[in-house]
Amino acid sequence: MQIPTITIRQVRLTSGLILFAYVFTHLANHTAGVISLQAAEEARRVFLGTWRNPVSTFFLYGALLVHFALGLYAVYRRRTLRIPVRELVQMAFGLAIPLLLLDHVKNTRVAFELYGQTDSYARVVWNLWQPAQGLRQAAMLGVVWAHGCLGLHFLLRYRGWYPRYRTLLLVLAIALPGLALLGFWSIGRELVLLARDRMWFDEHMAPLFTLTSRERDTLKAMESAFEWAYACVLGGLVGAMVIRNAMERLRRAHFTVHYPGGHAVTVPQGFSVLEASRMAGIPHTSVCGGRGRCSTCRVRIASAAGELPRPGTDEQRTLARIGAPEKVRLACQLRPSADLAVVPLVELARPVGRAEGAVDVSFGVEREVAILFIDLRGWTGRSEGYLPFDLVYVLNRYFETVGMAVRRNGGIANQFIGDGVMAIFGQEADPRRACRQALAAAADISREMARLNQGLERDGFKAFDFGIGIDAGRVVIGEFGYKDVRTLSAAGNTVNTASRLQELTKEFHAPLVLSSAVREYAAVDLSGIEGVGRASVRVRGRTTALEVHVVREIEAIAAALSPGRLEKVRLETNERDEAVALPG
Ligand code: FES
Repeated sequence: MQIPTITIRQVRLTSGLILFAYVFTHLANHTAGVISLQAAEEARRVFLGTWRNPVSTFFLYGALLVHFALGLYAVYRRRTLRIPVRELVQMAFGLAIPLLLLDHVKNTRVAFELYGQTDSYARVVWNLWQPAQGLRQAAMLGVVWAHGCLGLHFLLRYRGWYPRYRTLLLVLAIALPGLALLGFWSIGRELVLLARDRMWFDEHMAPLFTLTSRERDTLKAMESAFEWAYACVLGGLVGAMVIRNAMERLRRAHFTVHYPGGHAVTVPQGFSVLEASRMAGIPHTSVCGGRGRCSTCRVRIASAAGELPRPGTDEQRTLARIGAPEKVRLACQLRPSADLAVVPLVELARPVGRAEGAVDVSFGVEREVAILFIDLRGWTGRSEGYLPFDLVYVLNRYFETVGMAVRRNGGIANQFIGDGVMAIFGQEADPRRACRQALAAAADISREMARLNQGLERDGFKAFDFGIGIDAGRVVIGEFGYKDVRTLSAAGNTVNTASRLQELTKEFHAPLVLSSAVREYAAVDLSGIEGVGRASVRVRGRTTALEVHVVREIEAIAAALSPGRLEKVRLETNERDEAVALPG
């Protein structure tokens, strides 16, 4: 049996997630204070039951130590602080957390474990109920929470599902600490009002403060010992980095990285290729901040004057995930000892053509979408004899008709190739809605093309005939092209299949062919609709046959999307969703 390899990245991630779960539940506990002190104390019992037992304590403090140690190691490995601000902030927050947490931990868990001092809300909030203490507590909460949220954001932001929930998660990320502080304030106000009654205070509050002055002094001494120890750790870290750098300089061991365009950067051995780029101010994409996760820093090794170090486990996994060919390496992980020439493979580019508020897909994101292809039938023969400006005129009328229909139904007509148009649905919608939008757009296009054809024939032009193919599934959406010539597009099997289905419309003599995936996602009932048939087809690039619906009457799609029929499907599948508004 092969034992799975656990990488440093995985350990760091797991420990971070344990700590995040702790902070999340801790803040959630505070929010109960918005209701009352008693509600917060009740919720605290559940919180302590979860986290204050031997198993949780082991994992929590183990995660704290491991995460902190790996954080220090990551700082040590850095050869330059020329890093993006977001990485600098994340690092600074991480280093500040132990100091900010110290007072709180000392007065709660440590006082409880050593002297049995209760850390109930009544005692802790009463202790902190002074402006300076409260502000310090709020700063600590903000820094810890921001560090965790930034880490999660960097981890998740290029997952296909993330953009859909990003706004919701952002609201949660702001609301939770806000409510936690409100809970803290609310408990404090309640205590102040109750404490006006001297008898209540003597009965309920006074017994909570059991620490003797000697015990308090001991805790204070422990706090300053920790501060010194922490200062020594940070000093040791800086010292180790200085000594390492000095030794590297003494050894005069350098290597030079050559970039396209004649740039060359010489740096001491130990630098990564990404750090060499950063030192020289050469733009080098690094979405995950050099953690070996995202692969955007990848370079092709054009040549190397010596043997390069073999990829570590983290790098191997990332390269395997993207199916990187030989000679492709992650610049953030590669620390060569010989001169080499590299070609960065992901260019840092200014996003183009992105609507305000739309998700940044410039680096590429995976998303489940519907892809619609439309193409004109027999256009080459029909357009013969057109003068150039007539050709441009009629094609642009057609592009406008299709583009507007796509847009009205929530899609983006992103590519106009010859007499074909590709449209993406679902950049901002879930797959079900995206498929309904694509179907509604097909019906809309059909209607508008009929209108356009009437006008064209009236003006002496030939009418258009067209075929539409629609498929749905996972694609990568990004900005494709180079330098300023970039366009939003999609890549993947779904795109190829949609294009192929469009071609099949000729064989079926039908204006629309859609895959069964589209029908299933859209949850529309096409059974028994006149003008809609089924077929099983072979599509290039797929090993199995594909079930498709051949639509001879596109209006039949409008009927399938009619609210009444959707209602029926919804009842049958017990699903609730908003019906697609039919165009026109
Ligand atoms: S920066 Fe993300 S893998 Fe290198």
